Amino acid sequence: MVVKPARQRFFIPHTAYSTMNTKPIHRRGFLQGAACLAGLSLLGSQSRGFQSAAVPTAKPDVLLSIVSLSDAEKLARTAIPEASFEFLQGGVGDEFTLRWNQEKFQEIRLNPSVLTDLGNLDTSQNLLGCPMPCPVLFAPTASSGLFHPEGELAVARGASATNTTYVLSTLSGTSVEEVAAATRSPLWFQVYVQYDLALTKDLIRRAEAAGAKIICLTVDSPVPGVRNREERARFQRPPHIGLPHVAKRREPGMFTLDRVIPIRLVWSEVEELIAYAKVPVVLKGIMNPDDAEKAIGVGAAGMIVSNHGGRNLDTVPATIEVLPRIAEQVAGRVPVLMDGGVRRGTDIVKALAYGAKAVLIGRPYIHGLAVGGAEGVAHIQRILLRELRMAMALLGCKDLAAINRSVIWS
Ligand SMILES: Cc1cc2nc3c(=O)[nH]c(=O)nc-3n(C[C@H](O)[C@H](O)[C@H](O)COP(=O)(O)O)c2cc1C
Repeated sequence: MVVKPARQRFFIPHTAYSTMNTKPIHRRGFLQGAACLAGLSLLGSQSRGFQSAAVPTAKPDVLLSIVSLSDAEKLARTAIPEASFEFLQGGVGDEFTLRWNQEKFQEIRLNPSVLTDLGNLDTSQNLLGCPMPCPVLFAPTASSGLFHPEGELAVARGASATNTTYVLSTLSGTSVEEVAAATRSPLWFQVYVQYDLALTKDLIRRAEAAGAKIICLTVDSPVPGVRNREERARFQRPPHIGLPHVAKRREPGMFTLDRVIPIRLVWSEVEELIAYAKVPVVLKGIMNPDDAEKAIGVGAAGMIVSNHGGRNLDTVPATIEVLPRIAEQVAGRVPVLMDGGVRRGTDIVKALAYGAKAVLIGRPYIHGLAVGGAEGVAHIQRILLRELRMAMALLGCKDLAAINRSVIWS
């Protein structure tokens, strides 16, 4: 079978704003909400929020039309080339898991409690030594330059403006050193193991030297999943987007019809890498309680329940379904985080109620990036913080510690 070379679609990101269909929208009844999103919390002084002047809070008009994460997704579709959008949105196979990640959140009902003293509503915590005003991190995502000319630098600035922890991907187009210089908030570095374990160790040292506080070792991807949507769109990473952390390119044979070559990574090597790292190592991609136990056994400082955003193995459960089992197995020995399908403040509450210390978002901050660069990224995080505060207040939870199974209707 001959695979045709992908049709290259060049992205001229500067056109993202000008070509976008931005009708003058419902401005009037809307400004109050927009002001809230611009940083003026509805819960005002009762809440500790994001404090930063790094990104101005005045938004381009387009951001005023984004009041929920799904609004940003719709606008992102028009802001970037179709093949890039398909790469971003796509899951694996028939995309059951991709859909379930969001749907299973929607099936969980909440159980509010009224007349709680909500003074000092507080969404902050310290996680693995990193202060977080909001329990939402930016998940590692490859090649952000596909979506905005400033790529990972814009994400870093948006993270900095909202004091959000950014987990930079091994497959980023911008170096960890440059990204570290662009953010004041905690930076984690995601490691994809390289063919040679020595190269992986070099990458860990490099990230540590640049200031990464945590190494996030992705353990769920010996091969990529069957990304049919990407294949149908003939997606290819444009050559101008580099891979500054990948010394040896992955074996291209993995992507052909007749060769599937897994990258080697086994528990003993994970243990070796954890012992080698000077900073704590969190394992990303744990979906099985037995693996959670092994992760603790090899010294992981934490773990992320993740199915790679529905991009690896189709028909595995949604992460919110798996989370309670992992949390029960771990029983508080190390922090458990989760990602996949988080789109609302109520989703964050549900994940925390099921035992997560924090969640990560992937696609949503990229939607913000595509539409509004650093400000768009910050805007997404502000929306989530506002929704989280509202959900907590309406549930009767004054801080993250108050979120437990009692907020779930059963
Ligand atoms: C475009 C894209 C690129 C990604 N690249 C990586 C990556 O380089 N490393 C990694 O560990 N996970 C990667 N992921 C998975 C995310 O870290 C995360 O698990 C997932 O996006 C969470 O689901 P959500 O998009 O529904 O929030 C990627 C996801 C997307 C959508």
